[in-house]
Amino acid sequence: METNILELINTRRSHRKYLPQPLSETQLNHLLAAALASPSANNLQPWHFTVVQDQVLLDQVNQATRRGAQAQDNAQRSPRFADPAFHVFYHAPCVVFITTQGGQQALDCGIAVYGLALAAESLGLGSVILGLPRLAFMGPEDREIEKALRFPPGHSFVIAIALGYPDDTKDPPARDPGKVTHIR
Ligand SMILES: Cc1cc2nc3c(=O)[nH]c(=O)nc-3n(C[C@H](O)[C@H](O)[C@H](O)COP(=O)(O)O)c2cc1C
Repeated sequence: METNILELINTRRSHRKYLPQPLSETQLNHLLAAALASPSANNLQPWHFTVVQDQVLLDQVNQATRRGAQAQDNAQRSPRFADPAFHVFYHAPCVVFITTQGGQQALDCGIAVYGLALAAESLGLGSVILGLPRLAFMGPEDREIEKALRFPPGHSFVIAIALGYPDDTKDPPARDPGKVTHIR
């Protein structure tokens, strides 16, 4: 069934609870094709997409993220970490990490991650874009995490996205229509 792109954009919301059901190969192929079709400045395609379905590895990255949060000042730390049950990937069956060389071209990666979010919606899946896992890559021992995630040499984390069948039903938060200026 075809879904209108405007409807997808306007009804998409972040999901923070997922069913354990894995994504099919066909779904993954569609998602990665959409990611690779993203626009990029000078068509540099500066990204790499690391698709992780290994829950043990995701738990390790979650732990490393928690260690990173622990090293932050209280004022800086996301309140989400106050909940001991908080898992930075919300136990989603699939997480895509987007990396780029030297942390440059983050804007291109941001566009790609939104493309993935919309592609997921179009397949009847849910997603949440994740910046917090950056905390897993800040300590000296965290090179091990990059190695385990097989980031290409010289690449560093920009953003991630959790993907799966949503198991929550909250409405999207309100948007502020005042954040538009028309000059005619
Ligand atoms: C760059 C970026 C980083 C984000 N990082 C996180 C995150 O680490 N954890 C999380 O739960 N949500 C994260 N979000 C999701 C936002 O909280 C969410 O998009 C926002 O509250 C609006 O809600 P909606 O996506 O349901 O419309 C992130 C979103 C963006 C765009």
